[in-house]
Amino acid sequence: MKYTLNVNGADRQVDVDDDTPLLWVLRDELQLTGTKYGCGIAMCGACTVHLDGQPTRSCSTPVASLTPGQKVTTIEAVDGRVAEAVQAAWVAHDVPQCGYCQSGQVMSAVALLRDTPKPSDDDIDAAMSGNLCRCATYVRIRAAIKSAAAKLEA
Ligand code: FES
Ligand code: FES
Repeated sequence: MKYTLNVNGADRQVDVDDDTPLLWVLRDELQLTGTKYGCGIAMCGACTVHLDGQPTRSCSTPVASLTPGQKVTTIEAVDGRVAEAVQAAWVAHDVPQCGYCQSGQVMSAVALLRDTPKPSDDDIDAAMSGNLCRCATYVRIRAAIKSAAAKLEA
């Protein structure tokens, strides 16, 4: 079936089966490969994108479930003050190891700080617990989120 999706600010047409996960539309149809496949069952967070600003597991979001006009944002286009602060903090804290999980981590962190500018440790745990990292960068992720929050507050 044909779908028009708003992805990174532009309407994109795709012709895919209704049950095709958004992840594969992004990666295979639109060549937006920054969003990663990890588990395919909403357990690891590697595929996290924003749907109208909310962090969403694209591997478990059939394309047919999107509502018209819903805005999909991927790591390639997430922007604004919060996203810039998060990305700068990620660099400053040298967060990535292999990097595979990191686009999903960044998307979750940006959504957290947009909703909760001064997150507590519990807020960070709640927002980030669904994003797994096999390289165990969790300590640096937490430090980077706190540093981005402090910079945004200044
Ligand atoms: S690939 Fe989507 S949560 Fe793991
Ligand atoms: S940096 Fe390697 S899986 Fe997270």
